Amino acid sequence: MKPIQVGLLGIGTVGSGTFQVLRRNQEEIKRRAGRGIEITMVADLDTARAKAVVGEGVQVVADARAVIANPEIDIVVELIGGYGIAKQLVLEAIAAGKHVVTANKALLAVHGTEIFAAAHAKGVMVAFEAAVAGGIPIIKALREGLTANSIQWIAGIINGTTNFILSEMRDKGLDFDTVLKEAQRLGYAEADPTFDIEGVDAAHKVTLMSAIAFGIPVQFDRAHVEGITKLAAQDIKYAEQLGYRIKLLGITKRKAQGIELRVHPALVPSKRLLANVEGAMNAVVVNGDAVGTTLYYGKGAGSEPTASAVIADLVDIARLHTADAAHRVPHLAFHPDAMSDLKVLPMAEVVTSYYLRLRVADEAGVLAKVTGLLAGAGISIDAVLQREADEVGGEGSTQTDLIILTHDTREGTLDDAMAQLQALPTVLAPIVRIRKEELS
Ligand code: HSE
Repeated sequence: MKPIQVGLLGIGTVGSGTFQVLRRNQEEIKRRAGRGIEITMVADLDTARAKAVVGEGVQVVADARAVIANPEIDIVVELIGGYGIAKQLVLEAIAAGKHVVTANKALLAVHGTEIFAAAHAKGVMVAFEAAVAGGIPIIKALREGLTANSIQWIAGIINGTTNFILSEMRDKGLDFDTVLKEAQRLGYAEADPTFDIEGVDAAHKVTLMSAIAFGIPVQFDRAHVEGITKLAAQDIKYAEQLGYRIKLLGITKRKAQGIELRVHPALVPSKRLLANVEGAMNAVVVNGDAVGTTLYYGKGAGSEPTASAVIADLVDIARLHTADAAHRVPHLAFHPDAMSDLKVLPMAEVVTSYYLRLRVADEAGVLAKVTGLLAGAGISIDAVLQREADEVGGEGSTQTDLIILTHDTREGTLDDAMAQLQALPTVLAPIVRIRKEELS
């Protein structure tokens, strides 16, 4: 059979990796796909760099629309990123009847409903394994491998930059700003790291996983997004003393009232495998009612790991594109006319447990007042740690840190209790609140 022809839009880190891995493993990939897969056209504004990557025999152009207009091209791979021109080009490629492979999590998390509807109407596939956790085949696992299950929850370390920063903060006892600068120097963090450190990148990814797991539309605007910029080295240390590590987690859970969808730093018991995922690595834990808890671990970024996911999508399309569109795996795992209308819950309705750090006056009755107030609000305490005042504020200090771990409670209830605690004259600084996930 004639090889399937692929056009790349953008040949930076992931595009180069895709080209190289396809060339290196072309024979094996052909034996798996049942036909050859060839990149025959590349669009990149830097045509000289693109030519240096692909060499002779591949057409290089500066205009992405020339790829979309080429009737020989079967699949367009969008590796430009962002919501701007990439969205326009993806919609144009779909309108031209091309299948699309993309690594663009931002685009799909925000505009996925429009893009998947356009693809469905046109009978083409939009594949996005590379958009979540790079080389880890988590989309395939959720959409196909776990299809027997009622998925209960997913929790993932799905941003390598922040996991690298948190690992360094813990290992070296350094603060966030110092480690961020070091991460930028080493190339682990972008010059503008906002999307990573503010949790936005992880929220894009967990939004996509949530849609596939629960059959709900992609709803990035309903996700709760909190990054790691306000984390203090001292909380990482206290958490460790209590048997926890702090990770930036993307979490989505099925609850009776709706779906939880959130990204925030969380204390994870040190004994859990997820707590031991270090550096820039990614890992996702999925709990299904039949299978129990499963774990997926690997590189969440980088040239060839991400290319591995892009090429898996190309092979899927090569195998399935002659199939009747109604019998392909649905984009979001569930058929578009069988989606769930479960709502995404507001944070006040989320039920989880908490780490609280209170800077308090070191005097009689303070602990009793704080715990009494929590008891009055119906919030049960799991553990309390009180530091020596000298250790916290230096010799002769009259202030100390009181650390409280709670049992599960409604976030709205905790918000009200925290407002009351904050108003106590013996609570001397803004209370630090970090959520806790036991993952059991
Ligand atoms: N910037 C992402 C990360 C990789 O740090 O994991 C691409 O999604």
